[in-house]
Amino acid sequence: MKENESSPLVVAIDGPAGAGKSTVAAIIAARFGLLNLESGAMYRAFALKAIQTDSDVDDREELSRLAAKTRIRLLPGSAANRVFLDDVEVTKRIREPDVTAAASRVSVHPGIRQWMVSMQRQLGESSGIVMEGRDIGTTVFPHAAVKIFLDAAAEVRGQRRYQQNGPAGVQAAESVLEELRERDRRDRTRAESPLQPAADAVIIDSTKLSLDEVVTQVAAIITARLASR
Ligand code: DC
Repeated sequence: MKENESSPLVVAIDGPAGAGKSTVAAIIAARFGLLNLESGAMYRAFALKAIQTDSDVDDREELSRLAAKTRIRLLPGSAANRVFLDDVEVTKRIREPDVTAAASRVSVHPGIRQWMVSMQRQLGESSGIVMEGRDIGTTVFPHAAVKIFLDAAAEVRGQRRYQQNGPAGVQAAESVLEELRERDRRDRTRAESPLQPAADAVIIDSTKLSLDEVVTQVAAIITARLASR
């Protein structure tokens, strides 16, 4: 559906892992009264299901059969989303490294992506949203009023992820960066909806920007867009 002034506002924030999408999306959603939806959490929930059922994450037919038996729900929370897999809350579990690695693999399969895209479109149907992910501006909401592509140098993203893991994190900084590069490669080179900026996205490189500076830029883009509707 093409957006017009009466359609709910859709803000798409795409970009690679560790660029700061989730943090920026949560702040922007609160500021503009929008629902904050993390599409990556849905891929993560399905990846967890594949782990739990000992499924082969590279076998697209097996995964499609599994998807037909899987129910994923995303509830927008104040900070992060709450995520339910087959009615069991998995919000924390899906952030663990085994799920992160499996999510990157299950998300290359076209059938899985189509299923996710249709669930994501339904979530954005009735109210204004900020949705962050990899293909929101290109595929899920190609008519989004605002499209941001948030990028940063891989070294900086790796360092941010490492710090997010905190002192209890089990991974060394080098291995966090190595895994992030591997996920980047898979996200950018997959055949179906590879990670790339939409032609009409505003690209923000946050390598040398503070969180406040990024939020200020995104908020200014949204305000200008709303004023021109
Ligand atoms: O943003 P995240 O790290 O939670 O995403 C987990 C994985 O899901 C990531 O490897 C890429 C994939 N993903 C995707 O392919 N498309 C999206 N819209 C969101 C995430």
